[in-house]
Amino acid sequence: MWKNFPFFPEQASAMAWQVDGLYFLLVAVSAFFTLLIFALVLYFAVKYRRSVHPHPAQIEGSLPLELTWTLIPLGICMVFFAWGSLIYFQEARPPKDAMEVYAVAKQWMWKFEYENGQRDINELHVPVGRDIRMVMSSQDVIHSFFVPAFRVKADVLPGRYTETWFRPTKVGTYHLFCAEYCGTNHSAMIGQVIVMAPEEYQAWMNSGGGGGPTGSLAANGERLFGQLGCATCHGLETQGRGPNLAGLYGKPVLMADGRTVTADENYIRESILNPGVKIVAGFKPIMPTFQGQVSEEGLMALEAYIKSLSRPQAEGAADHRPPAPDESSTK
Ligand code: CUA
Repeated sequence: MWKNFPFFPEQASAMAWQVDGLYFLLVAVSAFFTLLIFALVLYFAVKYRRSVHPHPAQIEGSLPLELTWTLIPLGICMVFFAWGSLIYFQEARPPKDAMEVYAVAKQWMWKFEYENGQRDINELHVPVGRDIRMVMSSQDVIHSFFVPAFRVKADVLPGRYTETWFRPTKVGTYHLFCAEYCGTNHSAMIGQVIVMAPEEYQAWMNSGGGGGPTGSLAANGERLFGQLGCATCHGLETQGRGPNLAGLYGKPVLMADGRTVTADENYIRESILNPGVKIVAGFKPIMPTFQGQVSEEGLMALEAYIKSLSRPQAEGAADHRPPAPDESSTK
């Protein structure tokens, strides 16, 4: 409907109808009460006009009436609250087995990186029907990842990771916007989300779609892990001067000060850039900071590598590389 005047974006994600349903309910309830109030104002203005009722009657309070007009609106508001919270919690908790895509926002473009190392600029390719988890960070100011057709919007902040997720339900091309004013070309910081059928997606991945793959993200991370000398202290076979990182991701970690934190993406990021903030119990604060030595993309590769150490069979990062025709020629 409304082809040339798209009043409403397409519903292209599993969450879209819920967001729309809540929105329509809000509009309907608001419209109902607006009309009711206006109608009653008119009705009473005529019914109690001065020529018929020259002297207003004094009305005392009425407990049942006051309870009614308190409890009914309370009930209506609780419906909005409950439904809104339900949607919020669903949107805030990505499913465990979601496919991960990393995004780096900068003035004024979107850079995407897939698990197999493939890269995209201002275009995000995803397969239909899969849960996609976006792990996002900004290189400069605050941006916001907004795909109206999926009904998702999440701020992208410098210095930390934020996440959002969606399950595209329709093959097609959808708008991607930056929804946070981020400078002169904010309005031009747009892109496309291309939802493809699974086979098409696989073909696109294998063809080296976006940028050519230089090995999986985890493999790049493994290389960087060696180059930066991380491996000297964080031995994978034995406990070194730093904690063993195998199986770390997603697990609770006991700190020297008695706190327990979950080893999520932000914890790993902080431990690389600001290692002194959280010291693991039993270790000394000897790790130097890597601030300024690792790019956002490098950090994402390291994250992917550390995550790969927690996969069920604990295979090496190299095993995550997709079958590519020129596999032997890539380093
Ligand atoms: Cu980036 Cu607005």
